Amino acid sequence: MPESPRKLLVTSALPYANGEIHLGHLVEYIQTDIWVRFQRLVGNHCVYVCASDAHGTPIMIKAEQEGVSPEALIDAVSERHQRDFAEFMIRFDNFHSTHSVENREIVSRIYEALKAGGHIERRTITQAYDEQRGMFLPDRFVRGTCPSCGAADQYGDSCEVCGATYAPTDLKDPVSILSGTRPAARDSEHLFFRLSDFAELLEEWLGGDRIHPSLAAKLREWFRSGLQDWDISRDAPYFGFPIPGETDKYFYVWLDAPVGYMASFRHLCEREPELDFDAWWRPGSDTELHHFIGKDIAYFHALFWPAVLAGSGYRTPTAVHVHGFLTINGQKMSKSRGTFITARRYLDHLHPEYLRYYYAAKLGPGVDDIDLSLDDFVARVNADLVGKVVNIASRCAGFIHRVADGRLSDELESPDLQAEFIAAADTIAAAYEAREFSRAMRTVMTLADRANQYIDTHKPWVMAKTPGNEAAVAAVCSQGLNLFRLIVLYLKPVLPRLAADAEHFLGVTPMHWETRHAPLLGHEIAKFKPLLQRVTAEQVAGLVEAESSAN
Ligand code: 2FM
Ligand code: ZN
Repeated sequence: MPESPRKLLVTSALPYANGEIHLGHLVEYIQTDIWVRFQRLVGNHCVYVCASDAHGTPIMIKAEQEGVSPEALIDAVSERHQRDFAEFMIRFDNFHSTHSVENREIVSRIYEALKAGGHIERRTITQAYDEQRGMFLPDRFVRGTCPSCGAADQYGDSCEVCGATYAPTDLKDPVSILSGTRPAARDSEHLFFRLSDFAELLEEWLGGDRIHPSLAAKLREWFRSGLQDWDISRDAPYFGFPIPGETDKYFYVWLDAPVGYMASFRHLCEREPELDFDAWWRPGSDTELHHFIGKDIAYFHALFWPAVLAGSGYRTPTAVHVHGFLTINGQKMSKSRGTFITARRYLDHLHPEYLRYYYAAKLGPGVDDIDLSLDDFVARVNADLVGKVVNIASRCAGFIHRVADGRLSDELESPDLQAEFIAAADTIAAAYEAREFSRAMRTVMTLADRANQYIDTHKPWVMAKTPGNEAAVAAVCSQGLNLFRLIVLYLKPVLPRLAADAEHFLGVTPMHWETRHAPLLGHEIAKFKPLLQRVTAEQVAGLVEAESSAN
C-alpha cells in the first residue's frame, strides 16, 4: 500500500443510449479501465462510474420510430452496453442513467443555485420549427444547400464540403429531416448560462496542468475570442427533465449529461455507505476527480463543466484526460468499407484482451488519433503476447513438472536478474500513472525479451538431457517462472483475465504491486494450460467482411 492511499473518482464519457458501442468508443473505456485497475493495483482507493446518456431529441425520435417509449429504448440499449463493457472487462463500480431520480434532483439543485447566483439569463432566439411535427429542430435535423459554397444536402450547422459553419436558418432550401417540409423560423424564449461570469475561474483552472497543453492552448484561443453564454433550455416536446418554475421547458441534454457523473456516484453511495457524496464533491475535497473523454467534447468538459460546478458550489475536476479518435487501417471507420466494427462484432470473432493490449501499446497521454492497423494488430498480438510473454511460461512449466514434481526451487538462480525486474516497476508505474501506456508496454516487452534470452542462454531442454541435472534445470525454470510472474503483474491492468489465469497456474492469490518483492520459492504450481491462442489473419478478416456483408 502507498503511504496514504489517494482517493480518486474516475469517469468515462457517458454513451448515448441510442446506438451500439463500437471500437472507437472502446479506446476510451479501455484506456480508463486500465488506469483505474492500475490505481487499485498500487493500493489507491479508486471509484469508477459511468451511466447512459439518455436524454435529447435523437433518443426521443428513435424511440418514436421504433414504437417504444424512450424509457424502454434506453433500458434496452443500456443493457446491451453493459454486456459489451463487461465482456471487455471494463469494470465500473456503478453504471447508472442520466434519466434517474438522482440526476433530476442534482441538476435541478445546480440550476437553482446558478439562478440564485445571477448566472441564468432569459433571451428570445429564433430557431427552425417543423410545423407539421409541432417541434423545434436541432441543427442536425435540418438539411439544405450550403449558404457559402452551394453544396446540396448539408447539415444545418456546418458544411461537409467547404467546412463553413452557420445557423440552420441560413441554409438555402432548408428541409426538416423529420417531415420533409420547409421549416419556419420561430421565436422562443430560452435560458442561458452566463459562462463569461466564470472567466477568471476558467483562466486559472486551465493554467493548472489539468488538461493536455495542446488542448489548453486551443481552449484559451476560444476563450480569448469571447466566452459565449450557453443555451441550457429546450422547448417541448423534448425527452429530458422539466426545468423547475418553467412551463414546457426542459434542460438541454448537455447540461444534465455531465451531472450524470455525480448522479451515478450518488447512486453508488446508497449502496456503499462508507462513500460520502458531499465529502467527494465539496470544494477543497481531499479526493481527486478525473474525467476521460474524446477531443470532440473537450469544450463541454473544460469550459462549461468546471464553470457549472463552481457556480453551484461544487468542486472542479482535478484533470480532464483527452484522447484522439480511432482510425482503422489509416481511415475513419466506415460502414461501406466494413470497418465500422461494433463491440459485439469484435467479441463474436476475437478475444477482448487482444484489443486491450493493442490499444495499450498505442496509447499515449496526448490527443493524437490512434490507428488500428489490422495487419499490425495480428503481428503485434502474436509477437508480444504469445511469442514473448506466454512463451516464457510454456517453456518453463513442463520441466518443473517433469523434474521437480511441480515444485519451484527453494532459491533464485539469478537474484540479480530478479532484482533488475523488480527495479523496473517504478518506471512502469510512472508510465501508467502518466497514461503513457505505450511506454509501459515497451518496457514490459523489453523485460520479456530479457527473460526469453535468459532461458535461451541456459537451454534447459539441453541441460535436461544429462542425468543428474534435475536440480539445475528446475532452478533455471523456476527463475524463468518468477520472471514471468513479474511480467504478468506489470501487465495486470491491461490483461486482467490473463493475469487471473496465470495466478491460477502459479497457485497464488491475486497479485498486488507489492507482491513483486516476494519471489515464489519452494511453491507448488498447477499444470500449464495455454494462456492465450495466436490470433489469425482469417479471424481478423472475418471481422471486417462479416460487417460489410451486413451492410
Ligand atoms: O459525446 C457523447 O457521446 C456524449 N454522450 C458524452 C457525454 S459525456 C458526459 F458529459 F456525460
Ligand atoms: Zn459549403
